[in-house]
Amino acid sequence: MREIEPSEAEWAVAIDFLTRTGQKCDAKRQEFILMSDVLGVSMLVNAINHRRQSGATPSTVEGPFHVPNAPPMDNGANMAADAPGITCFVSGTVRGLAGEPVSGATLDLWQTDGEDCMRISAMSMGLGCAALYRTQPDGSYLIRTVAPIAYTIPMDGTVGDLMNRTNISHMRPAHIHFAINAPGYHGLVTHLFQSGDKFIQDDAVYGVKEALIVDFEKMPSGSKAPSGEIMNEPFYVVRYDFVLERKAQAAAA
Ligand code: BEZ
Repeated sequence: MREIEPSEAEWAVAIDFLTRTGQKCDAKRQEFILMSDVLGVSMLVNAINHRRQSGATPSTVEGPFHVPNAPPMDNGANMAADAPGITCFVSGTVRGLAGEPVSGATLDLWQTDGEDCMRISAMSMGLGCAALYRTQPDGSYLIRTVAPIAYTIPMDGTVGDLMNRTNISHMRPAHIHFAINAPGYHGLVTHLFQSGDKFIQDDAVYGVKEALIVDFEKMPSGSKAPSGEIMNEPFYVVRYDFVLERKAQAAAA
């Protein structure tokens, strides 16, 4: 205030903006957190609180669409059910920094389907693509889903009013959310982003990190999928190895 020296009219506009931001909040909608996201504050707080050793997979923002109690799936099962989109297999391992496989880690996933960005707002009611997988004894996992698409952050509140007064993108590049947990290891909340996405350099919430950008390799119809089956449609293959850091007391034991 000392620096800006607002007029009383400007001060009243700021109070009105903050009041409307609060009024937009309810049990499902948190406009203040969205404000923090688009100002880069959420990513800064995330970086401060999740300083991991080099080699560990970096974290990023959780966002508002995590689906609590997502349905458990067998390794390789299809989490997309009849959701529209191009089939996508995501596979790899979860390991510790020393390379040890992490068996029984939970991978809690949520994402858009391949067509309808608006389904993501229904996801908090359990209607979207979300699932819980577990790693195998060798630390491996196999997920069958559909490729996600880019989508807009919610623009019908004060954050939308603010973004509409700038040239800043309100889009998030296509990504899959992961929350990975295993006893003795720091939990990891992160995303995998599709390389080449139009918005990869312009994420509205600054969540993209180089180490989280992955190739979605397009395979022609007739190719063998990571599940072993021959697919009669084109599909994507994504490979990613997650690395978790042991908690200090577990590492010392
Ligand atoms: C998301 O990942 O969908 C998201 C994250 C932060 C703000 C809005 C949306």
